[in-house]
Amino acid sequence: MSSESLAINGGTRAVEGLGPFPTKIGKEELLELVDMWELSPEDQQKVRQIIRNAATVKGPHLFRYYNPKPSKVAAAESAMRDLIGTEYCLAVNSCTSALVAAYRALGIGTGDEVIVPGYTFFATAATVAACNAMPVIVDIDESLCMDPGKIEAAITERTKAVVPVHMRGAPAQMDAIMDIANKKGLAVVEDVAQAGGGSFRDKRLGSIATIGCFSFDYYKVIVSGEGGFVTTDDEWLYTRAQSWHDCAACWRPDRFARERREGELFCGENYRMSELEGAVALAQIRKTDEMLAGYRKAKQQIKGAIEKVRGLSFRRITDEKGDTAICLVMLLPDSKITKSALQAMQAEGVPAGGIYDSTVRDWHIYTYWEHILDKKTVAGDGLPWSAICDNELTRYSRDMCPRTLDLLSRAIMVEINYNYSEKDCAAIAEGINKVIRVYLK
Ligand SMILES: Cc1ncc(COP(=O)(O)O)c(C=O)c1O
Repeated sequence: MSSESLAINGGTRAVEGLGPFPTKIGKEELLELVDMWELSPEDQQKVRQIIRNAATVKGPHLFRYYNPKPSKVAAAESAMRDLIGTEYCLAVNSCTSALVAAYRALGIGTGDEVIVPGYTFFATAATVAACNAMPVIVDIDESLCMDPGKIEAAITERTKAVVPVHMRGAPAQMDAIMDIANKKGLAVVEDVAQAGGGSFRDKRLGSIATIGCFSFDYYKVIVSGEGGFVTTDDEWLYTRAQSWHDCAACWRPDRFARERREGELFCGENYRMSELEGAVALAQIRKTDEMLAGYRKAKQQIKGAIEKVRGLSFRRITDEKGDTAICLVMLLPDSKITKSALQAMQAEGVPAGGIYDSTVRDWHIYTYWEHILDKKTVAGDGLPWSAICDNELTRYSRDMCPRTLDLLSRAIMVEINYNYSEKDCAAIAEGINKVIRVYLK
């Protein structure tokens, strides 16, 4: 055969118009999604029929990068940036991932210390240890968030960051925390997992500190099943968090460019959010304020209708306007009364739960973090604990945060739903009043 027949020399191409290829994802996957939404049986039937009869169903490209269509994950990032008010926002697959990416972006590693509260979901502290740094645990105050008065005494020359957690929907005392951190030159990472959309002094949580970390897992305020976001105004920290979140795929502005500045290229992991979560997150972010209005209205009605009785107080809310209002926490005089009153409220049908019971294991309370308290380690290197000589190691004990245990053992948490009707709220308040009239007379 002569070389003129080669396509490169003007000959006819051997391969012409491949396909059309079926997309990897099509009708079957869409039907599975429809199955997850509770439509009426008739509507389910109709929607399924439309999908089955459709001549072509071109499935989505469920990967955010190299997506021929505008990415839902990118749209969710943009919506989140607008909602929270930061310059940069990175979608990840969980808040656990967001925390690791944030700590890594800040350069936290072996031998460093990070201050966390004794009341938070374990992930806040576990991720510090997963970065080979040491969590230093401090008490909370009546806000049920980190007590700013306990931070200074916990700072050592190894301290790199402070991590206030906006627990159960309400903001930590961010002004005092930021003052201390700024004075000491420490980074602050806000763990906003439980308070998405909340604010402190008119600034959204996640926009006040150096970095904000959000959870969109199903039990949070704004949800996508699994998911999380990292927010920051600092371009460098965003770039480093982004690199950590994608196995150092190095998206940056130019993926294959050489390092523009030392610290830009390193080996990371994979925390990418999928387009499915991105789509749900986008819809949720858009309706955040509407949901918050519902929570706040319901909480106000319930709280306003609770009788003022001696011995009953409420968790201190550092900024009423900024509370997401996903729950109402009452404080009773002692743990014994609290336990009995809680059972009585539950018997009334009030959606109430306790926070700390010394006989019930719970990963939100530091006393159960034996992974940290007993200095567990994943590998033979003994990290993170082996990085620091024994006499300088953080001392952990189960009674190191007495205020945390006292406050939480006296707390009853009433769950608020954003679509409670006025009748629902009145019934919940009545159930609470019936019980406190008996137990706190
Ligand atoms: C305060 C806090 N931080 C972090 C996390 C971890 O979030 P995720 O489940 O998205 O990893 C949670 C989840 O429960 C949390 O409550």
